[in-house]
Amino acid sequence: MNDQAEALRAAAGVPAALPRLPGLAVTGGKGGIGKTCIAVNLAVAFAQLGQRTMLVDLDLGLANADVLLGLDPPRGLAEVITQGLPLAEVVIRHPSGVALVPAASGRDDLTTLSEDQHRRLFQSLATLADAQDVMILDTAAGIHRTVTAALQSAHLVVVVVTPDPTSLTDAYALIKVLERQAPGRDLRVLVNQAASLAEAQTVHQRLDGVTRQFLARTLGFLGHIPRDRAVTDAVRARHPLLLHQPNSLAAQAIRQVAMKLKDERWRGR
Ligand SMILES: Nc1ncnc2c1ncn2[C@@H]1O[C@H](COP(=O)(O)OP(=O)(O)OP(=O)(O)O)[C@@H](O)[C@H]1O
Ligand SMILES: [Mg+2]
Repeated sequence: MNDQAEALRAAAGVPAALPRLPGLAVTGGKGGIGKTCIAVNLAVAFAQLGQRTMLVDLDLGLANADVLLGLDPPRGLAEVITQGLPLAEVVIRHPSGVALVPAASGRDDLTTLSEDQHRRLFQSLATLADAQDVMILDTAAGIHRTVTAALQSAHLVVVVVTPDPTSLTDAYALIKVLERQAPGRDLRVLVNQAASLAEAQTVHQRLDGVTRQFLARTLGFLGHIPRDRAVTDAVRARHPLLLHQPNSLAAQAIRQVAMKLKDERWRGR
């Protein structure tokens, strides 16, 4: 984009164009609904399918993908953003094969990046993505700019919802904001913690009904991950569920989602 177009965009308050990343963003609006558990275990599932997989922790203020993987990275996106450290230098590898770009926890200065900082961050991620088959972005709760930037960049957006009505209203709010900033993204609903497939389908239909009516758009159904104690056990053990209890119902469901997505043309469209 030329400088003049960039200046006009900035003057109009329109966010800058961001590079497209080959992979998916895991989001949902609401906090504590399982976004990070899903992002981490989908990453492990893709690695187990033989894909070169990079997980990026974009929950910049309250990062915890490293915790769920049982890693203790010495550096992360905090050093990249504030000290200009090359992104490649903070990447840390998990025994599963997943490459993690860690963030940092307890850094409120990272929760309000400028548009320019976002553009630089996503451009660096796009460069790293060249050597990967798939990149998974774990996003924070809420609808601040780092979240919407991730959703705008990712090839597809996984919207995690639970049967809780506040999860549906938060997901709807997030989709509404995203539609305004970047209309027509590929959105797929993944229902977490439903008691049955039937309940998960009802949750999807409810959200899809509202987005059809008020935003004139449909939402795909990606699948359902049951409520399962094994998920909590794995979190406490700081060991990814897919390695901790690979035969649990939740682990099987996550592998099914990865299978569904494995032939996705991440660099297409
Ligand atoms: N399918 C599930 N079955 C049982 N418990 C679950 C399931 N999914 C998530 N949980 C529980 O929910 C907790 C929160 O999950 P997680 O940290 O992934 O949520 P989050 O959406 O990333 O939260 P935040 O918005 O704070 O980043 C986990 O520690 C786990 O105990
Ligand atoms: Mg999280």
